[in-house]
Amino acid sequence: MFASIILLLICVVFIVVQLKSRRPKNFPPGPPVWPILGNILDLSLENPLKDFERLKKTYGNVYRVILADYGSSWKEQRRFALMNLRNFGMGKDSMEERIHGEIQYTVDTLEKSIGKSFSPQNMFHNAASNIICQVLFGKRFEYQDETMKTLVQCFTENAKIANGPWAMVIRSFTFQLTMYILDLHFAGTDTTSNTLLTGFLYLMNYPQVQERCQQEIDMVLEGKDQASSEDRNNMPYVQAVIHEFQRVANTVPLSVFHCTTKDTELNGYSIPKGTLIIPNLTSVLNEEGQWKFPNEFNPENFLNDQGEFVKPEAFMPFSAGPRMCLGEGLARMELFLFTVTLLRKFKFIWPEDAGEPDFTPVYGVTLTPKPYRMKVQLRVSQKIPNL
Ligand code: HEM
Ligand SMILES: *[C@@H]1O[C@H](CO)[C@@H](O)[C@H](O)[C@H]1NC(C)=O
Repeated sequence: MFASIILLLICVVFIVVQLKSRRPKNFPPGPPVWPILGNILDLSLENPLKDFERLKKTYGNVYRVILADYGSSWKEQRRFALMNLRNFGMGKDSMEERIHGEIQYTVDTLEKSIGKSFSPQNMFHNAASNIICQVLFGKRFEYQDETMKTLVQCFTENAKIANGPWAMVIRSFTFQLTMYILDLHFAGTDTTSNTLLTGFLYLMNYPQVQERCQQEIDMVLEGKDQASSEDRNNMPYVQAVIHEFQRVANTVPLSVFHCTTKDTELNGYSIPKGTLIIPNLTSVLNEEGQWKFPNEFNPENFLNDQGEFVKPEAFMPFSAGPRMCLGEGLARMELFLFTVTLLRKFKFIWPEDAGEPDFTPVYGVTLTPKPYRMKVQLRVSQKIPNL
C-alpha cells in the first residue's frame, strides 16, 4: 500500500489551482480541462487509482490532473454563472413560485403571532436566506436552524462522498465552493432582509402610507389569489413605497470597494491605476437637489404630479456600472412579492408599549434598523378568494 502511494506521487502532479494562478508554459500534459470542474469528470468516484493508471498510459510518467479550475478566467466564469441570477436562467416564473412558497412560511409565522408583539428579525432573515438556498440548492431549510448550521447542512447533503481516496480533494474543493456560496449567501440575505425590516418599521409608523398601499393592492389584485411581478406596473404607489424603503434603508452605504485597473479621470482629477475607490451611496441616496424630500421618508420622492411612478437617476442602492449588483432582479422581486402579499393579508401595528420609534440604523455587515417589535392583525377588508 505504502509503495503504491509513493508510486502515485511520482506519477501524478496534483494541482488544485488557486484563484488567479496561471499555468506556466511547460506545464505537464493531461486530459482537457473543464472550467471550474477541472478534470474531475475524468476520474471515477469510487476508484480514481484506476483512472490514474489509464492517464499514465496516455500521458507518460508525469502528467497533471486539475481539480477545481479557478484559473485566469474564473472571474469571468463566475460572473457568467451569476448572470443567470440577473436573467433568471432558472426561469422567472419558477422563481416567483419559489418566493411565494417561502412567503407562505412567513404568513404562517405571522398568523401564529396575531395579537402578540414579537421581533420580526429572524423571520425576514430566514426567509431571505431560504430563497438563496433555493437558488443554490433547490431546497429550503426549516426556520429553527441557525444559518451556519443550515449552510453546513446544505453542504454535507450535497457532498456525502467525502471519504476514502477522495477525502483531501473533496475537502479542498468544498472549501472553495463553500467560500463561493457563503459569498453569495451574504450578498443576498442581509441586504434583502434588512431592507424588508426597514420597510416594515416605516409602514407601522406611517399608517396612512400603509393604508394607501393596501387600497391599491386590494384594487389591483381583486379576484386573484396571488400577486405576480407584472402587477408592479399597475401599482405606482406601492412601487414608490418600496423604492423609498430602499432609499432610506441605504443597506450597503459604501457599496463594494473597487480598484482602478488603469489611469482614469474623474471630474477633472487624475486617478492613477491601482487606486482604491470607495463609492459613497449614502451621499447619492440623500443628495439635495436630486430628491424632493431627501431627508424624510416620503414615497412622493418616486411619484410625479400625475401620481405616476418615476425613478430618479440618483436611485442606486444596487450601485452602478458593470460590477453592479447581480441579484437586483431577484431582490426586487422578493421585495415586491413580500410587501404586497403581507400587506394584503395583515395590518402591521407599532406596539403601544414600544415607545417612540428610533429610525437610526446600526452598522453591521450592512446597515440595519435597531431591533424592534411588531404586532399584526388579520385584515378584514381583503377580497381574497380561498386564501
Ligand atoms: C436589497 C437587496 C440588495 C442590495 C441593496 C444589494 C446591493 C449590492 C451592491 C451595492 C453591490 C456592489 C456593486 C458594486 O460592486 O459596485 C452588490 C453586489 C452583488 N450582489 Fe447585491 N444587493 C442586494 C441583493 C442581492 C441578492 C438577492 C443577490 C443574489 C444572490 C445579490 C448578489 C450580489 C452579487 C453576486 C454581487 C457581486 C457582483 C460582482 O462581484 O460583480 N445581491 N449588491
Ligand atoms: C458619505 O456621504 C455622507 C452624506 O454626504 C456623509 O455624511 C458621510 O460622511 C460620507 N461617508 C464617507 C465614508 O465619506
